[in-house]
Amino acid sequence: SPCPSSQICPASPQNRPPPSSRVRRPLPITETLAEFRLTNDQLLEVKKRMRTEIQNGLGKKTHDNATVKMWPTYVRSTPDGSEKGDFLALDLGGTNFRVLLVKIRSGKRRTVEMHNKIYAIPMEVMQGTGEELFDHIVQCISDFLDYMGMKNTRLPLGFTFSFPCRQTSLDAGILVTWTKGFKATDCEGEDVVGLLREGIKRREEFDLDVVAVVNDTVGTMMTCAYEEATCEVGLIAGTGSNACYMEEMRNIETVEGDVGRMCVNMEWGAFGDNGCLDDIRTEYDRAVDDLSLNPGKQRYEKMCSGMYLGEIVRNILIDLTKRGFLFRGQISETLKTRGIFETKFLSQIESDRLALLQVRSILQQLGLDSTCDDSIIVKEVCGTVSHRAAQLCGAGMAAVVDKIRENRGLDQMDITVGVDGTLYKLHPHFSGIMHQTVKELAPKCNVTFFLSEDGSGKGAALITAVGCRMREQEES
Ligand SMILES: *[C@@H]1O[C@H](CO)[C@@H](O)[C@H](O)[C@H]1NC(C)=O
Ligand SMILES: *[C@@H]1O[C@H](CO)[C@@H](O)[C@H](O)[C@H]1NC(C)=O
Ligand SMILES: *[C@@H]1O[C@H](CO)[C@@H](O)[C@H](O)[C@H]1NC(C)=O
Repeated sequence: SPCPSSQICPASPQNRPPPSSRVRRPLPITETLAEFRLTNDQLLEVKKRMRTEIQNGLGKKTHDNATVKMWPTYVRSTPDGSEKGDFLALDLGGTNFRVLLVKIRSGKRRTVEMHNKIYAIPMEVMQGTGEELFDHIVQCISDFLDYMGMKNTRLPLGFTFSFPCRQTSLDAGILVTWTKGFKATDCEGEDVVGLLREGIKRREEFDLDVVAVVNDTVGTMMTCAYEEATCEVGLIAGTGSNACYMEEMRNIETVEGDVGRMCVNMEWGAFGDNGCLDDIRTEYDRAVDDLSLNPGKQRYEKMCSGMYLGEIVRNILIDLTKRGFLFRGQISETLKTRGIFETKFLSQIESDRLALLQVRSILQQLGLDSTCDDSIIVKEVCGTVSHRAAQLCGAGMAAVVDKIRENRGLDQMDITVGVDGTLYKLHPHFSGIMHQTVKELAPKCNVTFFLSEDGSGKGAALITAVGCRMREQEES
């Protein structure tokens, strides 16, 4: 049947919509989606629970059992504008490895100039010995320094190493476990900065001053803070979900010292792993979790990050199809395929400018033969799932900004959050709903969100620059 560009489907004899009304959906669909609509009280409760978990992660006695780990990052300050010099940044987190030279100029005309080159990490290197991996990394750095003509300077370096790491100081990070296809031997349990320094030594060709191991969330905050001094929070809303912020040293009981502030990497994706969100999780959330690679883990992330939203949608669609409300009751092979609804598709389907005909054509591309009514339902399911994701993310952020405000004993506070991630950048409604939720749940904070890209490159260089500045201050 032809599909008009409005929300109203052509009347068929069995399905004639009442005049001048929107399509009336079968009750089971409304009921299914109702579970995803959180009330204001429920969101306030999520905020309150996040606050409790933050407290547990920071407390000396509660940290070991805490789900939200609140890892100290040893980043003691955001940039103050006086940072200057040439810095090297390394970004290792997948099959590509990036080396950057970042030139930071201070003074009246502050500038950041970046040069970078991307190198492949061959499979046999990813899965060889640790020595081979780090020799390869050092080989790439050597090539880059030749290319830039900078072999004879001992450049300060920041290392974005996107694997689970336990940091014990700004320049030490112990690899907990490899992920993403890496298997190089003799690295797990070792300090990756030590491995890098040994690789540089083996080559006997140049020297570098490794200053910092960098987390991309912290890098995002630092990139933003360089432009906007009130930025003291970083947020990643993409494939995964995480946040960091500047906490008072006196509240971080897992680190010695009470003076000043330190950035804590919340690892908030694990919020709910102790069951504290179970009352709002739906059967679809549980199905997605059960079928995932890490059942029971990262429950909050599985409700609000791009990697899982499509899976929640798919599980709802399968259920509605089984019950005969979609796709003529036929569960296609496509619908059984994990990961078909990428963030990109959800973003397209929910775009306001997209006519239903185009929604159908997207579903067609996915191998889902839909009627006009189907396309309306699919669009509504996508919208409901991403709406809840944005609200949950906003509730977590509201807890963070209100904690910072209370730390400082303020009745009102202006604060900026640096954000990166595909969900935030690509999705047509996610950012707006998240902003609105934070506004409603933390009315005493005036929160500005600032898109802040390349935390793992530019941010890593800024963390290194601030680290050098702090080191000089301590020495003098
Ligand atoms: C940690 O959690 C476990 C399981 O919930 C509990 O049995 C144990 O008493 C807790 N430990 C502390 C120190 O709270
Ligand atoms: C940030 O730190 C967490 C935990 O330490 C780790 O899982 C994640 O991979 C880190 N990200 C980067 C980019 O280093
Ligand atoms: C909120 O913060 C922004 C940015 O700092 C500022 O321009 C604006 O005036 C503030 N609004 C209120 C109501 O304080």
